[in-house]
Amino acid sequence: MWGHVQDRAGTVAVRLALSVYAVSSVRRSAAPRGGVRTRCSRRHQLPVDLERQGPVGIITLNRPEALNALSLEMLDQLDAALDVVEGDAELRAVIITGAGQKAFSAGADIGAMREATALEARAYAQRGHQAINRLESFPRPIIAAVNGYALGGGCEFCLACDIRLASDRATFGLPEVNLGIMPGWGGTQRLARATSPGFAKELIFTGRMCRAEEAHAHGLVNHVYPHDTLMAEAITLAELIATKPPWAISAAKEVVNLALEGDLRGHLARELDAFALAFTTEDQREGMAAFLEKRQPTFAGR
Ligand code: CAA
Repeated sequence: MWGHVQDRAGTVAVRLALSVYAVSSVRRSAAPRGGVRTRCSRRHQLPVDLERQGPVGIITLNRPEALNALSLEMLDQLDAALDVVEGDAELRAVIITGAGQKAFSAGADIGAMREATALEARAYAQRGHQAINRLESFPRPIIAAVNGYALGGGCEFCLACDIRLASDRATFGLPEVNLGIMPGWGGTQRLARATSPGFAKELIFTGRMCRAEEAHAHGLVNHVYPHDTLMAEAITLAELIATKPPWAISAAKEVVNLALEGDLRGHLARELDAFALAFTTEDQREGMAAFLEKRQPTFAGR
């Protein structure tokens, strides 16, 4: 179900409302970016929003109470949003960002993985790979507007986007080792390719986070902007790309991606297996329990 609202600038703001949600009323409210947006009263808040601004589709990961941690439901809704974009030739560029002031996404949902067996963890990671591979091969350009924490799966999401813009409040990292596991949504491959193997290993082995400026110095982000101007900058860039010939952009994306290929798919499969194996260890149980119980983990090495 779609809601269309004409704003003062004459652009159409469109909000995706999937049919699983009961939309009991729609009312107008001030939009965060100065236009007019629809707000729907529902049984649940939608965890992924799609808003249309002219030729640009803005996808917002919308679960701010959990720092936009990526649940399976969100991955399904992301797919639904991308289906809509793909079916609409007038949408020529996509921006992905996070709701709230703190996070782009703090990663895969730790609560959902806590008790997973190795096979369940593998299936979960495979679903993440599907979602992320789709972003990477999506036939329109995708800009990540990283407005805060981009950790674990959230960082891995950004890494599959074509261009990464960061707010000066953004923080990046693959902190999975702090949970007794390793990155499992493509980070082992894409962080090493986007930056350098040495920088990727430092972040992965230590689990430390890096600020936007450091990420920029290592080529992880294209530009860093003051937090309040990030979305305006992302929209300006997306609108510029939207003026270019869509077929050429899509073909260029596909071909530039080949420069990074090597045996990317084969290496991603190795990552899936290693990620799943981590769920056979006591350290995984300890690491995730410690995070959810808000204490420091003690890793026994088994
Ligand atoms: N999954 C589930 N819930 C999460 C979450 C996640 N990845 N990250 C944050 N949350 C939840 C917290 O549990 C907390 O919920 P409650 O209010 O119900 O307790 C809420 O979001 C706010 O988080 P904090 O209270 O921790 O906020 P903070 O400002 O003190 O810290 C943070 C922010 C440093 C980002 C911290 O939340 C954090 O370290 N999060 C986990 C980051 C992480 O380890 N990501 C990797 C996940 S595993 C993964 O992604 C595997 C993979 O490769 C696929």
